Amino acid sequence: MLQPPSPISLLFLLLLLFFFISPITAANVTTLFKEAPQFYNSPDCPLVVIGQEDSHGLCSDDGVHVAMTLDTAYIRGSMAAILSVLQHSSCPQNVIFHFVSSASANVSALRATISSSFPYLKFQIYPFDDGAVSRLISTSIRSALDCPLNYARSYLADLLPLCVRRVVYLDSDLILVDDISNLANTQLNDAVLAAPEYCNANFTSYFTPTFWSNPSLSLTFANRNPCYFNTGVMVIDLSRWRLGDFTSKIEEWMELQKRMRIYELGSLPPFMLVFAGNIVPVDHRWNQHGLGGDNFRGLCRDLHPGPVSLLHWSGKGKPWARLDANRPCPLDALWVPYDLLQTPFSLDS
Ligand SMILES: *[C@@H]1O[C@H](CO)[C@@H](O)[C@H](O)[C@H]1NC(C)=O
Ligand SMILES: *[C@@H]1O[C@H](CO)[C@@H](O)[C@H](O)[C@H]1NC(C)=O
Ligand SMILES: *[C@@H]1O[C@H](CO)[C@@H](O)[C@H](O)[C@H]1NC(C)=O
Repeated sequence: MLQPPSPISLLFLLLLLFFFISPITAANVTTLFKEAPQFYNSPDCPLVVIGQEDSHGLCSDDGVHVAMTLDTAYIRGSMAAILSVLQHSSCPQNVIFHFVSSASANVSALRATISSSFPYLKFQIYPFDDGAVSRLISTSIRSALDCPLNYARSYLADLLPLCVRRVVYLDSDLILVDDISNLANTQLNDAVLAAPEYCNANFTSYFTPTFWSNPSLSLTFANRNPCYFNTGVMVIDLSRWRLGDFTSKIEEWMELQKRMRIYELGSLPPFMLVFAGNIVPVDHRWNQHGLGGDNFRGLCRDLHPGPVSLLHWSGKGKPWARLDANRPCPLDALWVPYDLLQTPFSLDS
């Protein structure tokens, strides 16, 4: 005897139809995220004054300004990162997000995705002309891992409004488990930026023998004590950056790299050429890095000794990809509570 379909299976069918027929399919199933809870300031938070010409509160000096890139490949990571920032902030309503997306991305779709999960978020999306930066990236090092949006962090001083004087830049493959204002308030003294610094890493290896054997180039690091640093977590004084025109200085190194190969990787070495040895080190608790695992064998990594304020899945593996593949690393469980993807209908496969 023919049974009428149960309401549950009908609903499932409808959803399937919706995914396959509605134009939202084109905008990608991965854009379907849950709404995050609303987060409120504690009573002693400074009031973020909203000026007349600044109706989004985007210019407040009392706010914590956070910059991230936004693209479809990493959006699940970005959503988790945003949630983690808000959840651990004592003044979440004072956190202002500045997202940089590729100029070719559908900005209104990205805006809608963010707004539907975070209806109360103060944010702005800035289109980044990745065509312009593509011309600066030497073709020999261009790869999937080195997309032009990786270079957006070098252009924050130009992309963000002049009234934003300090920003925390964050990668999309991390979560915070501590109050971001502690990171944002890092004493910069006279420095332009603060970042987690690793003086045990072999600094020499980031640049080619061509670079080191040319005195006019290697003298760049004379009178400095340069160390490798991570550009995935940075506090940047944008006013000083603009005054010193550091964007042009980074671009000059990229131009040189096009003519003669002076380094191996993409966006990091120009940053090191301009800033290494002159940065303020950020406590390593703000970059428990490498959780993406071993780049060659895909092995899981453990936490480094010491306290944890930020977990960073740097490296090839990403927690959302490993979870989808049913091969999570043990520490990926720490990322799961921040995942906003609507669970039962992940139709990626
Ligand atoms: C969905 O997103 C993935 C990852 O960015 C992309 O490769 C794919 O083309 C997208 N699918 C559609 C239908 O837009
Ligand atoms: C951008 O996304 C919106 C949905 O948010 C859609 O209506 C629009 O057609 C898209 N535009 C392009 C050019 O794909
Ligand atoms: C650092 O790297 C350079 C170039 O890759 C290599 O020649 C040198 O031996 C390394 N130094 C140490 C201490 O490992």
